[in-house]
Amino acid sequence: MHKGGILCIVGARPNFMKIAPIIKALRAGPAPISAKIVHTGQHYDTAMNKQFFEDLGIPHPDINLEVGSGSHAVQTAEVMRRFEPVLDQEQPAAILVVGDVNSTIACALVASKKGIAVIHVEAGLRSFDRGMPEEINRVLTDQISDLLYTTERAALANLTREGIDPTRVHFVGNVMIDTLHHNLAKAIPAADTLADTGIDLAQGYAVLTLHRPSNVDDEATLRNLLETVNLVSQRVPVAFPLHPRTKGRIEHFKLDGLLASGKIFILPPIGYLHMLGLMREAKLVLTDSGGIQEETTALGVPCLTLRNNTERPITVDEGTNIIVGQSRAKILAATEDILATGGKAGRVPEYWDGHAAERIAEHLHAWLNTRPAAAA
Ligand code: UD1
Repeated sequence: MHKGGILCIVGARPNFMKIAPIIKALRAGPAPISAKIVHTGQHYDTAMNKQFFEDLGIPHPDINLEVGSGSHAVQTAEVMRRFEPVLDQEQPAAILVVGDVNSTIACALVASKKGIAVIHVEAGLRSFDRGMPEEINRVLTDQISDLLYTTERAALANLTREGIDPTRVHFVGNVMIDTLHHNLAKAIPAADTLADTGIDLAQGYAVLTLHRPSNVDDEATLRNLLETVNLVSQRVPVAFPLHPRTKGRIEHFKLDGLLASGKIFILPPIGYLHMLGLMREAKLVLTDSGGIQEETTALGVPCLTLRNNTERPITVDEGTNIIVGQSRAKILAATEDILATGGKAGRVPEYWDGHAAERIAEHLHAWLNTRPAAAA
């Protein structure tokens, strides 16, 4: 890479669908911006990682830090330790980080201390729940970012409240929805993904994803959720792609029996194109993921969020999302309503139009040209 290009950081599953359109947009056009991909290795299983690069056509990472798992401190520190020499070697004009995972804050922190500009995509989202590790990552990353690209207009108020100069904030829309638009035609039909389950597609199905520490690390909370899912499955079969963290917790607490209703169908973590097809055809989605709240809103599929808050309020205000927490009564009532009426109608938010990454590339191009080391 010529000095003055951009290092784009990915680490964990939700980063991959955000970086794919950005890389493409940066490298496109008559004056491409030099960009390299650094993979921290936070997620390393094929199903959590390699499959997404293939599905999304992301070029191989130029640099892999191979940090793997660990406590938050160990994982964050290891990314920082291994990323520093990469910065010394590459001397980019800026690094670009996405989302809110440990790799995001770790790389942002190293770069900012070295005086290298930090660009944060998906800035300004706030759950106002500091018990959530991602909320800490969001707040801190935004504080040390030089350019902040937002997915919804409400993010600007969150950032200015925290003292961030609004001239650094740019509303561009949602790059994750760029990826959704780009891949919808290639989505794998649910019939293929569910072929071995015996689910009668004519009757419909629900999709469940669960991985937040607040939902899966506490035995009583996880037990309550799985018992509730068991009840949901009496009404509509549930397809459940199982995150490694959740799998581990279910085994540890010996809760496997709660999944044996005969109507809950466990799948391994599935690739992006499988998940897209599965969500698109679902009657409803139950999730504690951030990205899935957005994807269901873009698809117009009802979503029940198994958390007490969301950092993505636009999915509730404008989209199909309902916050139900861990309340059995709310989950069952909302399920009944969706099965009876199809759920609340939503609309697709502003700038979730498939062109967010192009807006970023256009803005970055102009911005880089004002910097001492110009874009390659
Ligand atoms: C991380 C992100 C979260 C994101 C999620 C998506 C942070 C703080 N959290 O949480 O925001 O929604 O990814 O998946 O960064 N593991 C594997 N194989 C892998 C990756 C992880 O077995 O490829 C295991 C780890 O050993 C660990 C557990 O899964 O026991 C959790 O992984 P980790 O990356 O620490 O956090 P996530 O819960 O995945």
